[in-house]
Amino acid sequence: GLGSINIPVYVHVIYSNSQENISDAQIQSQIDVLNADFNLTNNDASNTPTEFTDVLADADINFTLAGVTRKASSRTEWGTRDEMKFASNGGVDVVTPESALNIWVCNIGGGILGYAQFPGGDPATDGVVVGPEFFGDTGYLAAPFDKGRTTTHEVGHYLNLRHIWGDGRCKQDDFVADTPSSDGPNYGCPSYPTVNCRSNDMTMNYMDYVNDECMYMFSEGQKARMRALFAAGGARESL
Ligand code: ARG
Ligand code: ZN
Ligand code: CA
Repeated sequence: GLGSINIPVYVHVIYSNSQENISDAQIQSQIDVLNADFNLTNNDASNTPTEFTDVLADADINFTLAGVTRKASSRTEWGTRDEMKFASNGGVDVVTPESALNIWVCNIGGGILGYAQFPGGDPATDGVVVGPEFFGDTGYLAAPFDKGRTTTHEVGHYLNLRHIWGDGRCKQDDFVADTPSSDGPNYGCPSYPTVNCRSNDMTMNYMDYVNDECMYMFSEGQKARMRALFAAGGARESL
């Protein structure tokens, strides 16, 4: 196989007040959460129901902080149209997207925690966007999204993962065989088993919509889908 994959990370903090100008410690805490979640060293993985332990995956992907950009702005909400990704719009330009993950930390607004671009898109907008109070697990944070799992979820999208319900009804696939079919997102902290589409939902998967402390796993099928991007001809081979 490919062995460990290492992804350099550029974090761009765009803030309209001092709280949104999150600390270096908060930024590093998010890098640490990513490394735990993508290497199955997160302590809460032990909560995985027996039904799913066979497919509990160590994705073996490492993240290293390559640089931090800080930019003050009078803009308080950035939306989801990628304006934060361009200096010409008052944002910060992407840095070497062919060889690094870019994360913009700014207030999106509209109750949106984060969003991501799938592989194969415009390099100028490649990466993920996360609100400051959902980034990392220490500092300026808003429970129940205060364990850094929004970024884990968005990096899952950046690495080609879909939501586990496939964004459709029971027959809509997420293109991953070992995540059971579901007909929509789960929220809060569901009890196990939660049955939809005649099977138990993998509500504890990072690609559902549950609270941060209630999501703690990727599956083997998701691991294979992510890692395929780094093989010869894959969309993120250059990373
Ligand atoms: N894109 C999703 C949203 O903004 C992210 C959901 C993340 N979920 C979480 N528990 N952190 O709604
Ligand atoms: Zn999502
Ligand atoms: Ca599936």
